[in-house]
Order: sequence, then C-alpha cells, then structure tokens
Amino acid sequence: MMRTVLLSDGQAVLPALGLGTWRLGESAPQRAAEVTALREAIALGYRLFDTAEMYGEGGAEAVLGEALRGAMAAGEVTRNELFIVSKVYPHNAGRRGAVAACERSLRRLGLEAIDLYLLHWRGEHPLAETLQAFEALQAAGRIHAWGVSNFDVADLEELAALPGGERCAANQVWYSAARRGVEFDLLPWMRARGMALMAYSPIDQAALARHPGLAAVARRLGVTAAQVALAWVLRGEGVVAIPKSTAPAHLRANLDAAALALDAQALAEIDRAFAPPRRKTTLAMN
Ligand SMILES: NC(=O)c1ccc[n+]([C@@H]2O[C@H](COP(=O)([O-])OP(=O)(O)OC[C@H]3O[C@@H](n4cnc5c(N)ncnc54)[C@H](OP(=O)(O)O)[C@@H]3O)[C@@H](O)[C@H]2O)c1
Repeated sequence: MMRTVLLSDGQAVLPALGLGTWRLGESAPQRAAEVTALREAIALGYRLFDTAEMYGEGGAEAVLGEALRGAMAAGEVTRNELFIVSKVYPHNAGRRGAVAACERSLRRLGLEAIDLYLLHWRGEHPLAETLQAFEALQAAGRIHAWGVSNFDVADLEELAALPGGERCAANQVWYSAARRGVEFDLLPWMRARGMALMAYSPIDQAALARHPGLAAVARRLGVTAAQVALAWVLRGEGVVAIPKSTAPAHLRANLDAAALALDAQALAEIDRAFAPPRRKTTLAMN
C-alpha cells in the first residue's frame, strides 16, 4: 500500500507518488506513444497525475484525457480512484479568467471535475480575485480542492490573510535533494498548517539519476540513484512527489521508490552531498 497524504481540507487523500506530464502533448507524432505510456502508468498503479494548461498549451491535458478515458472505458480504473491535478496560467487567473481556463482544462481532460486546481505561479492578478474564482469553481463542483504553486512563505502568508485563504490545500514547489531550501522555512510553515507540499522536479529533471553521491548510496541499498532521490523527498510527512517519466522501466522503479525507506547512514551521506539549508534562500523555480 502506498503512503497517502491528507489535504488540509481534511477530506481528500492523495497517493504520495504521482506522475508529472510536463513536455507531454507537445508533438503530434509522439501522441500515441505518450498515451501508451500513460496507460502503462495506470496499469502499474499510478493514480495521481499532475498536468497544467501550460504543458503543450493544452496538449498534455488532452493526452492525459485520452489515456484516462481509455483506461476507464477498459475498466482498468474508476474516476473515484484517480486524483487529477491541473493548473491555471497566472495570466489566465483572476475572477472570470480562472473559471474560463478551468472549463477549457476540463474539456481537454474530458472530466466533470479536477481534484486539485492550482495557480501555477503568482502573476499580475490580485490573489483575492483568483481565490474567488477557485471558491466559485469548488461550489459548482468543477474542482474539489484548490491550491497554489511556486509560493514562498511571504506569498502564503498574504494568501492566508484573505477570506477563505486558509482553505489553500497544497503548494507545489521544486523540492529535491539538490534544492532543499524549502526545508528552512517553507516546509515547516506548511506542515504546521497541514498543507501538502507537492515536490516537482524531484529528480532534478534526471540530473540526480546521474549523481555520484546518490549512486554510491544506491549501490549499497541495491536500488538506483533516481530511486534514492525520490525516497529522500518522500521521507517526510505531508510531501507528495510527482516525477515525470514515459519509460516503462522508470515508471515502475519510481513507484517502487515510494516504498523505499532510507536508513540513517543513507540520510547522513545525502546530507554530506547536499547540505541542509542554514538560512533563508530564494525559492527555486523551474
Ligand atoms: N508547478 C511547476 O511550476 C512545475 C515545474 C516543473 C515541473 N512540474 C511538474 O513536476 C513534474 C516532474 O518534474 P520534471 O518533469 O521537471 O522533472 P523530474 O520528474 O525531476 O525528471 C524527469 C526526467 O527524469 C527522467 N526520469 C524519470 N524517472 C527516472 C528514473 N527512474 N531513472 C532515470 N531517469 C528518470 C525522465 O526521463 P524518462 O521519461 O525517460 O524516464 C525525465 O527526463 C513535471 O512533469 C510537472 O508535472 C511543475
């Protein structure tokens, strides 16, 4: 059984490991192979999928929608078992814009509702207006929960001070062994409020799969460096990781990594390779 993470609304649980979809849906000739990879992921047991209107300018949502429809029609998975995350572009946010963007995403995904809808990063629109749109979408049943992405502590504090701001369920940020600045203040701030942290680029876009320090830990444990990178991100409470892969062997390995517990020696070795943050740093963005 995979560990699950509770959203701060206390209602929804999501699997600690999901699948990212950035760079999917960008090329028509690749589409069939991408749908096949997503179907393979569902067959392997992936239930959490992360996408955005930005990815392939809607292409990733369309590819994911096709895979989900196919898997549901084949009886491989039901809608209730799935947890779908998508994001609104900051320039499409705001009171009316976010509602319209969400409707477009729903059409591409072929779904009645998105489980978690995020503001992709802060933009020009006042947060209060985007929050109103999210609340309206939730009341209409078009999204089940809402959150943000690439928000640091100051942004979250500003959001929390708005009416309804405390209902922000998650914040998706870059978090990996090589980008662990969030451990200084953001992650503790979120944990104190039960807000889930979705770790994007948890393998640093494949760079950590080749890291000699992680490879040494991996050799001793009989796993791969990428699996160590994922198990490390997932070691703490309230953290979800969404590595992207379209390679069947990697899809399987990443899922297995969610069940890998790192021992004290491994954690110490990783701290030596990537020092824990001792002061506030600017939030990393990808
Ligand atoms: N909110 C945001 O602003 C934001 C920003 C960036 C990303 N994201 C989300 O987070 C997801 C993940 O981040 P990411 O795609 O940037 O980077 P990532 O998941 O850290 O790395 C993906 C890369 O690692 C490779 N890989 C995956 N599993 C592997 C394994 N077991 N061994 C070796 N290589 C492996 C993949 O290649 P293969 O496909 O060949 O396996 C791909 O090249 C995105 O897809 C997106 O959904 C969100």
